[in-house]
Amino acid sequence: MDLEGMKATASARSNIAIIKYWGMRDYSLGLPSNSSISFTMDDTLSTTTTVEFSRKCPRDSLSIDGRPAEPNETARASQFLNIVRKMAGVRMRAKIASRNTFPRSAGMASSASAFAALACAATNACGIKLGGKELSQLAMLGSGSASRSVFGGCVEWRAGAKAGGSDCYARQISKKEDWAHLRNAIAIVDSGKKAIGSREGMEITARTSELFAARLKTIGKRIAEMKGAVARRDFQKMAPLIMRESANMHATMLDSWPPIIYLKEPSFAIMRKIHELNSAHGKYVAAYTFDAGPNAHVYTTKRHENDVIAALRGVGGVKRVLSCGIGDGTKISENHLF
Ligand code: DP6
Repeated sequence: MDLEGMKATASARSNIAIIKYWGMRDYSLGLPSNSSISFTMDDTLSTTTTVEFSRKCPRDSLSIDGRPAEPNETARASQFLNIVRKMAGVRMRAKIASRNTFPRSAGMASSASAFAALACAATNACGIKLGGKELSQLAMLGSGSASRSVFGGCVEWRAGAKAGGSDCYARQISKKEDWAHLRNAIAIVDSGKKAIGSREGMEITARTSELFAARLKTIGKRIAEMKGAVARRDFQKMAPLIMRESANMHATMLDSWPPIIYLKEPSFAIMRKIHELNSAHGKYVAAYTFDAGPNAHVYTTKRHENDVIAALRGVGGVKRVLSCGIGDGTKISENHLF
């Protein structure tokens, strides 16, 4: 199938894990060591991508927010398209344009929204119709966390146990409409690129950290507790689980050799501030979580959002605070970027 003008556009939103993915059980297939759970964000943190396969393209090209991407970014997208080309029996190169709703300079770059949108746009451009499960299995080959952005609301990415990964995929566990009251206040502490990429970092942790083995032993229990709390929409149960899970992952990073340190001084100040706020209310009104970086994602409810944002703005070293709600999975769009 080598038709002229095979073009499609898709959008996807970032997701922020409440049970984290860190470590793989199979590095060549990109299968995670443990299942993870996240909420998909709304359009505040979204990526729209247009892909066109054409005989006129001498090579794959990628632009992000109107500018040519870095060579390593283009290479990563191109490798991903090779998988799609193989699936579809297509040989043509592609033009890819991507636009984010969040400023790149905010340090919010999300491989999750990027690869979920790319997987959806590229397969549609080739005329391949995948179900959600299959699309999540494709997206994870670009970036593990991208598997979760295929769905909206609250999403579980199941690690599975089979060698080939057929039981490793994402699925929605709670729909967006159940979380209209939930907010994520994001405190930007540092907008620079992370010193060590997730893939390299998790490989070092899995190889060197003794705490990592302990994490894998206990995470099944935390996942079961979190799923129970999510099903009951019980923020009082979810909040401590979210904060302790973030700390648990960062403890294995610190226990790695050489140590992997993503959190910065203001990150710790935010943790202290949120505990103060919760104590002052005599209940959990906010729960922080940190990915492979120093920026805080603070889950809270609409009712307490303004208080939480004000508290975060008062922490030294916090450059800006934005907030968003819970959103949808990947969507096809007719508004092509070129
Ligand atoms: C710490 O799969 O997003 O955010 O594609 O290399 O960025 P890269 O890795 P990715 O790893 C994310 C790890 C995490 C935790 C999580 O989102 O579950």
